[in-house]
Amino acid sequence: MDELKERIRKDGTVINSEILKVDRFLNHQIDPQLMKKIGKAFAKHFQNAGITKVLTIESSGIAPALMTGLEMNVPVLFARKKKSLTINEDSLTTDVYSFTKKVHNTIFLEKDTIIKEDHVLIIDDFLANGEAALGLTRLVDLAGAAVSGIGIVIEKSFQQGRGRLDRAGYAVYSLARIASLNDHHVQFLD
Ligand code: G4P
Ligand code: NA
Ligand code: NA
Repeated sequence: MDELKERIRKDGTVINSEILKVDRFLNHQIDPQLMKKIGKAFAKHFQNAGITKVLTIESSGIAPALMTGLEMNVPVLFARKKKSLTINEDSLTTDVYSFTKKVHNTIFLEKDTIIKEDHVLIIDDFLANGEAALGLTRLVDLAGAAVSGIGIVIEKSFQQGRGRLDRAGYAVYSLARIASLNDHHVQFLD
């Protein structure tokens, strides 16, 4: 997605060879017009996948997931990173390890929000080592439903996640693929 790549070049900050800061349009301040176009791009790519629900994880996945669900006219769900006050004891849970933050987190999804008949599109803002995306696929598995696609806004292709998702057989579509962040420069894959 050319507009996203231009925006990353213009407003992204390379923190180091591993981390890109995009707090001016995705992770802190959000650009709704850009999110709308991101939603349209995911909806177009997955239009024939029979998607019935969009699933993401709080917090930064919610904006692109919401716009995708709006465009596809399906409900949007976000897994929680903290047990909310009202969540049922029999919620679906799985552990996600963050290599970046070096912590394990349990993520939660209320039982019966995803049903066996669902075809789920997983959306996330970043793909690094793939732990969050794989955790979301496990929640879909626990619900007995199918993962029918994974849409990523920014993929750091030099990390493990893309390969892991490809090898697991998922249909992955990333809007911006970053080959390298070396020398304070964003090098896209294509
Ligand atoms: P993984 O799921 O792909 O293995 O990624 P990892 O554990 O490394 O990511 C942990 C958190 O850091 C996630 O956000 C992820 O989106 C974010 N992240 C990873 N790489 C980058 C990067 O280069 N730039 C930015 N800005 N974020 C990155 P989170 O902690 O779940 O937070 P939230 O923003 O969704 O609330
Ligand atoms: Na994030
Ligand atoms: Na995220």
